[in-house]
Amino acid sequence: MLAIIGGSGFAQIPGFKLDRREVARTPYGEPSSALSFGELAGHAVVLLARHGYGHTIPPHQINYRANMWALHACGVTRVMGLATVGGIRGDLAPGVLMVPDQIIDYTHGRSATFFTLADRGVHHIDFTLPYATQLRRACLDAAKRAGEPIIDGGVYAATQGPRLETAAEINRLERDGADVVGMTGMPEAVLAREIGLTYAALAIVVNYAAGRGSSGTGIAMGEIAQVMQQSTGRVQRILEQLAGEHGG
Ligand code: HPA
Repeated sequence: MLAIIGGSGFAQIPGFKLDRREVARTPYGEPSSALSFGELAGHAVVLLARHGYGHTIPPHQINYRANMWALHACGVTRVMGLATVGGIRGDLAPGVLMVPDQIIDYTHGRSATFFTLADRGVHHIDFTLPYATQLRRACLDAAKRAGEPIIDGGVYAATQGPRLETAAEINRLERDGADVVGMTGMPEAVLAREIGLTYAALAIVVNYAAGRGSSGTGIAMGEIAQVMQQSTGRVQRILEQLAGEHGG
């Protein structure tokens, strides 16, 4: 079964037919939201609202471990993380969709591993390719079938938040090789890998990163909300195709 983790502005997916909600409990506490079981275009999917349904949980306080544990425990095998991001690379303007293929992690102080209990031993998982190649490809194919332009590949920089970056920080991220910047991509991706979930992200560029383009002297929150709203239908169409491809 496919799970969709909805980010800022994407806690609800239009067209999703809710069947039941389930409050999950995990050894790490409660996930961000109840799990919403239902159908998208006739295919079974589970939705999880990363920031809670009222958007009350900031990026650094999300219980990423409980989220991934709960999805794994309810029979989910594939997880598509929706990620609103700021665009650093010139062609990644607001409204552009992209499927990242790499991550640089700048977060700190987050619980970023399941391997904390002594009886689990020491594990160093391979994270060379942080996103599942097949699911990335499936998402790109789904976008093609949906007729939605999408960019294949880019480096996602995960920052700590909740504040946005300074212009100098964005310059540094660019020098590091980052193409987009967001606050929730890690440790979500690594926890998925640790627990054995197939995971990829769909990045929705909702603003130019700090100091770039129309964000030269500041990021306009109103514009972000507008782009989110304009992107919802496009993301919905891609997800409908993706849910179908996996047969749920
Ligand atoms: N920076 C970090 N996270 C974000 C941004 C940004 O510019 N836009 C959306 N999420």
